[in-house]
Amino acid sequence: MSDLVLSKRDFDRLRGLIEGWCGIAVDRSKSYLIETRLRHLVAESGCSGYGQLYELAARGDEHLQGRIIDSITINETSWFRDRGFYDALRGLVIPELVSRARAEGSRSLRIWSAACSTGQEPYSLAILLQEMERAGEIPLLTPRRVEIVATDICHSVLALAQLGRYDPISMRRGLDPDLRERYFEKQGRVAVVRPELRERVSFRRFNLLDPMDALGTFDLVLMRNVMLYFSTAVKQEVLHRVLNVLRPDAPFAAGASEALEVYTRDFEVVRQPSCTYYYARPKSEPEGKEEGRVR
Ligand SMILES: C[S@@+](CC[C@H](N)C(=O)[O-])C[C@H]1O[C@@H](n2cnc3c(N)ncnc32)[C@H](O)[C@@H]1O
Repeated sequence: MSDLVLSKRDFDRLRGLIEGWCGIAVDRSKSYLIETRLRHLVAESGCSGYGQLYELAARGDEHLQGRIIDSITINETSWFRDRGFYDALRGLVIPELVSRARAEGSRSLRIWSAACSTGQEPYSLAILLQEMERAGEIPLLTPRRVEIVATDICHSVLALAQLGRYDPISMRRGLDPDLRERYFEKQGRVAVVRPELRERVSFRRFNLLDPMDALGTFDLVLMRNVMLYFSTAVKQEVLHRVLNVLRPDAPFAAGASEALEVYTRDFEVVRQPSCTYYYARPKSEPEGKEEGRVR
């Protein structure tokens, strides 16, 4: 199998299928990604080569489609990824959401961790909320009243996230020892998220290219380090549809390297010293009005 070669035609066909399914645009200079990551599937599916794999996949074999997506996605993540982002969540964004909820007479919040990979992002959020409660920073809002919905397209990462079991290497990436102690149980070499934290997060499979309305509305959406894999047109489409599930003037966050203002004018850009937040611009608000805002 190791001498299997991906022709230019099969690369283009597989690349088109993948982008159509999940938005991931594999650049022509990275054809090796498809070649190396799908090689095992050629063998497992009993195909003679990439051409036959394409034909099987294009016929609508859902199982194979899921396996191809699982193989092609990049699931890199870590605890409290980009510290400055979590500092701004704690110091500014969550307190602001809590005061707004209180002003509206509500005591609950909904947060969406879209593209959550193996779960470090939604669990980091759940830990952050617990820590804020311990420090008395979120009066009248217990973390139990914050619903964290975590989604990803990839079956295998979701299965790991749901189990909440992490090996020593992933536990070292971004997690302080005292948080490790407080929120995880040791089971041999593996650290397991404590049940009270795990039940704060509900995981489900969701493709960002699908209609989002059924997810309900959110007070905060994190869609970090995923749109960088999408073409400009797909980014614009996803951003446009996010507006349907974000409450008006609610914050939205992307990854540190994803400057979304280039792709849409539907969000007010709020730069913090160490990260950028995007606020869904109320439909009637003209551009530029935000300049006087204090955030
Ligand atoms: C690099 S990880 C980012 C994880 C986390 N948000 C973070 O910043 O650490 C990107 C994730 O996006 C997911 N993904 C890619 N395309 C997707 C799509 N169309 N719908 C949902 N998730 C997708 C991948 O499966 C992967 O787990």
